This record gives sequence, structure tokens and C-alpha cells, in this order.
Amino acid sequence: MSFKKDIQRTQELLASSKSLVVLTGAGISADSNVPTFRGEEGLWNQYRAEDLATPEAFSRDPKLVWEWYSWRRKLVAVSQPNIAHTTLVHLEEHSFSFALITQNVDGLHDEAGSKNILELHGNIWKVRCTSCSQISENREIPVVFPPECKVCGGLLRPHIIWFGESLDHFVLDKSFEVLKSCDVLLVVGTSGIVQPAASFSAIAKEYGACTIEVNPNPTPLSNQMDIVINGKAKDVMPLLVSLVI
Ligand code: OAD
Repeated sequence: MSFKKDIQRTQELLASSKSLVVLTGAGISADSNVPTFRGEEGLWNQYRAEDLATPEAFSRDPKLVWEWYSWRRKLVAVSQPNIAHTTLVHLEEHSFSFALITQNVDGLHDEAGSKNILELHGNIWKVRCTSCSQISENREIPVVFPPECKVCGGLLRPHIIWFGESLDHFVLDKSFEVLKSCDVLLVVGTSGIVQPAASFSAIAKEYGACTIEVNPNPTPLSNQMDIVINGKAKDVMPLLVSLVI
């Protein structure tokens, strides 16, 4: 199908959807100048995840890990939600049933005004105590080391799901629930490599949903999608909702 036809078909699907789920990845925030993880300019091309984003790395050198997260907080703090984020807010407002599952930790969906957000990988503005597990908001930049829990004095860590860690059960269960009951799944700006999100389109499809991908580049998910729209989120997203809002 041509680009124009794919856009048209997606407009119709979004307009007639009774239960819409959107899955986002770092690509949607790329247009807000937040670096993605993979690709030439990606964070994992410049830094080793093993040194910075694993529980072992934090045990070994918590100061280094906090320095890296302070640097990333600084990047996110100067970024703003872009038109793709705000398009999702409008889509939610005009949808019968809507859920937004994001792998992003930058909080830009929340800042844009999205409501029903499932943050799969945590949030860069939250911290968790390594002793009592209390989760709290923390917007310090830089985070003064060692950050201490106000409840028990334990060392705080970023409230981020690192490699080798399990996702929050509530968030994961809720994600499966909405994926199994949606009629349309829109996947925006993810490389489709990291599990479990990499399996979400297959699950939604198995349960009868129509699946649409928005990404400037092909991904391992592209072949299984009903519709693939190649383009940047900021350019494509506003085109998709003309029959909805
Ligand atoms: P990746 O960095 O793996 O992939 C970003 C995707 O966005 C790629 O497929 C790009 O082609 C696409 N992209 C780039 N610019 C875009 C734009 N302007 N509009 C739309 N798409 C664009 O990011 P994720 O798939 O989100 O985990 O990565 C998944 C997880 O891996 C992350 O949540 C992170 C990382 O390790 C943790 O931090 C736990």
C-alpha cells in the first residue's frame, strides 16, 4: 500500500476503534531531543549498559550510575513534549477506551497530559530505596551523592527497570489486559528488541487487534504489522488523527 493509503486506513481504524492501545519507545522522544538507545547516536552506542543499567553496576559503583542518571535528567529537564506526545493526549480525550504503554522513562507523556499511562521501565524522576523499597519523586539535578531515603536512611537508586530485573507486576498485568482486549494497537518509535514490549504486537494481534507501526526505520516487528508507516513520529502522528479530533 502507498503511504497515503496507509495513512487513510489508519485514520479510519483510529476513528472506529472501541479500544485503542498505543505502545511507545524512545523514538517518540527523539523529536524532543532525548537520545534513543540504539542506532548511531544511541546511548548504547556510546555507553555500556553493563556499566550503567544493571543492578550489578549499581552495587559496584553507585556514584557512577547516579552521575549518568543526573546527566540524563539534565537532558530530559530541558526537553519538552513534542507534537507526537500531544497528539496522543488528544487521541486519548477522543477515544472510547485508551491506554498508553510506554518504555520511556522521561515522563514526557505525563508532562504532555496523557492520563492512562503504563510506564513499563519506570521513571527517571522517581527514586526507590534499596533498603525499604519506598518509591518517591525526586527532581534533583544533579542528584547529590549519596541520596538517602527519608524514611529509613537507606541508599536511593533510580526507579528504573534495569537489565536483568523484573518488571512491576501490576504494570505488566495491566499491559497484558489492555493488549488482549484492544482492537487497535499503534506502536510508535520502538526498535522492538527489548522484551517484553517486543512481544506486545504479537499478543495484541493474536487476540484480534489490528497493528500499526510508526517508525522511520524498519524493525523486527515490521513484518508482522498490518500497517507500517515509515516516518518520524512528529510528522506522522498528527496526520493519523484527522478523523478523530
Ligand atoms: P531504541 O533506541 O531501541 O529504538 C528507538 C526506535 O525509535 C528505533 O526503532 C528508531 O528507528 C526509532 N526512531 C528514531 N527516531 C524516531 C522518530 N523521530 N520518530 C519515531 N521513531 C523514531 O528505543 P526503545 O525501543 O524504546 O530500557 O528501547 C527499548 C528499551 O531499551 C528502553 O526502554 C531502554 C533500552 O535499553 C531501559 O532503559 C530499561
